[in-house]
Amino acid sequence: MYKLTIIGAAKPAFDGIIKEIGGVADCEFKSFGMAIATPPGKFTLIDIDLEEGSRLVSLKNWLACKPSGAKVIFVTDKSSHLQGTRASAIGGTDVIHRPFNGRMLLAKFIDGVAATAVEAAPPLAPDAPEPLDFNAAVNGLQTVFSAAASGGPIDASTMQVAASAVVDEIEKRGLASWVDTVRMHHSQTYQHCLLVTGVAVAFAHHLKLSRADRERLSFAGMLHDIGKARVPLAILEKPSSLDFAEMVEMRNHPLYGFEMLSNPQVVPAEMLDMVVHHHEYLDGSGYPHGLQAHEISDLVRVITISDIFGALLEKRSYKPPFTGAAAYKILVDMGAKLDKDLVREFELVSKFDQRQFETAR
Ligand SMILES: [Fe+2]
Ligand SMILES: [Fe+2]
Repeated sequence: MYKLTIIGAAKPAFDGIIKEIGGVADCEFKSFGMAIATPPGKFTLIDIDLEEGSRLVSLKNWLACKPSGAKVIFVTDKSSHLQGTRASAIGGTDVIHRPFNGRMLLAKFIDGVAATAVEAAPPLAPDAPEPLDFNAAVNGLQTVFSAAASGGPIDASTMQVAASAVVDEIEKRGLASWVDTVRMHHSQTYQHCLLVTGVAVAFAHHLKLSRADRERLSFAGMLHDIGKARVPLAILEKPSSLDFAEMVEMRNHPLYGFEMLSNPQVVPAEMLDMVVHHHEYLDGSGYPHGLQAHEISDLVRVITISDIFGALLEKRSYKPPFTGAAAYKILVDMGAKLDKDLVREFELVSKFDQRQFETAR
């Protein structure tokens, strides 16, 4: 029997869920104050107001003490990017959106294995089913980002499994399907990483790079911005433009990512190279090191193009997603900053939304 701690404002709100999953999970409801008086357990569901900041620091400190492999799911609103980001930053391993039922909750906690044990559960909400490999990627990302946010060790093997799964997924279904799935996904927190990963893998496939390089790019795509876990939320979420000091801090994220993954070194050097140098430009105008063209490796050049393109495809609160053609024009307009030959090769990849991307194994 799974032991699940539910933290919320009032128990009656959870009575239905507790009854529904009672045959599988032993649920204990606690108020916020009661809950943080004892260490976290292996399974915790938290339903508090994440828009209100007063409890976030104490919650983050409490979650930093969770046992390894613990699952902490925050209840959030599907439309709120802020809630999802905050949940991840303070140590959540996943989110579930209102409204949800017991079966959906169990699937989150125990990877769907025992969800079928809830015979009386109502049918799943009509969310589009997500491909298995997409879930592998999101689960890997959530685990690693939550470890990074709480300063814990980063499990590179989890990411390696996810990286390999994404390569299979893109090559099986194509980039258009991947982008559609990522855009539909309930949490915007990981959209950027997942889009960059998909674009990088599709680009690598088009370039006929080896399987090992495709997996390296998949891995680096997911982790390239992990250093942002160390940038204060006030900067990451700032709705207006950043001042100079904030910009300097934001531009530290490649270095933070490098530090996280190299101390101790949990990923190979070529992946670290992509993490620390994905904002470098061939004309020396990039950061953090202002490298020149001859100092920038081919894999870094690929991830840089994929990063910019992926960001343009993203749906943000202040802008609709760019089409592939509009995003590609921006890459071309960047001129000497990017590798011209690679940008030319990228044109076909950028047309993913005009026709099915051709897989040429
Ligand atoms: Fe970045
Ligand atoms: Fe990025």
